[in-house]
Amino acid sequence: MTDLDEYLRARRTEIESALDRYLPSPPACPPSVAGAMRYSVFAGGKRLRPVLTLAAAEAAARHAEQSVDAARRLAMPAACAVEMIHTYSLVHDDLPAMDDDSLRRGRPTSHVVHGEGLAILAGDALQAEAFGLLAREPDASEPAMIVRRLQVLGVVAGAAGAAGMVGGQALDLEASRPPPGRAGTSLDVAALEGMHARKTGALIRAAAAAGAIVAGADDDLVGSIDTYAAEAGLAFQIVDDILDVEGHSDALGKTPGKDEAAGKLTYSAFYGVARSRELAHACLARAEEALRRAGLGDSRLADIARWIVTRDR
Ligand code: IPE
Ligand code: IPE
Ligand code: MG
Ligand code: MG
Ligand code: MG
Repeated sequence: MTDLDEYLRARRTEIESALDRYLPSPPACPPSVAGAMRYSVFAGGKRLRPVLTLAAAEAAARHAEQSVDAARRLAMPAACAVEMIHTYSLVHDDLPAMDDDSLRRGRPTSHVVHGEGLAILAGDALQAEAFGLLAREPDASEPAMIVRRLQVLGVVAGAAGAAGMVGGQALDLEASRPPPGRAGTSLDVAALEGMHARKTGALIRAAAAAGAIVAGADDDLVGSIDTYAAEAGLAFQIVDDILDVEGHSDALGKTPGKDEAAGKLTYSAFYGVARSRELAHACLARAEEALRRAGLGDSRLADIARWIVTRDR
């Protein structure tokens, strides 16, 4: 097991126990919705985004010669909130009205098991819980921490909303599933990159920026981490597009080949797999460069970016 594997395993364990504490349970909410939320959250995602939040907080703390453990603790609520929003986006992405997928995280999708109505509601509730968590935690009364908490809330809201993930998903729908009687939008390269930047990049950027902010990074350092994450986020979706062509459902936990069948606009469709891989590596190089310039060249964030482009799931 590599050092990064050890790191990921340790962080995932912490993230999963924090998610378990933060998610609502009966009698505070009906068992049906609690069950549907937990079904998707605890189905074994990679936890890339919350790991990024924690790793960015660590990098910021190390940069300021402060406690890495304390920074990670401060960043855990934001890490979990981002994972809740991401999970909600997957539940909705899989709905028949969107990608119509039946396998996710190695399990039948939420709507297949719980029905469409409850799947929609579980996604809605995950999003609302995420913002409640960001408003409450970390529970500190110092003005500086209240300011950081609000800043994180704003960053995550922007990334989740119409200018971010939801906007990207809307572009994805328009490009791939034209309403009856209307031709699909044909996207050029810039528009394809812009769609990916919104639907996937925005939340990955917010995940990393939130960790840096909550750990007290100054604007320059947050900016560098944000640049890194924008590149890593684009690389992530390019690789997702490649894995839809080349991946296996056992490893992926989802059904490959769906993008082509649905006529999706993807990097693999646009450039072919080989060129897409080169483009993902070019993103990686730019992500590493942003870290080096900020003095974070040997941080975990660099390992995570390399994992993003070499992963098989
Ligand atoms: C899948 O995200 C959806 C995209 C934005 C590409 P992940 O590949 O991170 O999914 P999980 O969280 O590991 O299931
Ligand atoms: C999804 O992109 C991006 C989200 C915001 C969920 P995809 O539709 O390619 O994600 P997968 O391949 O279903 O995980
Ligand atoms: Mg989709
Ligand atoms: Mg999908
Ligand atoms: Mg995909």
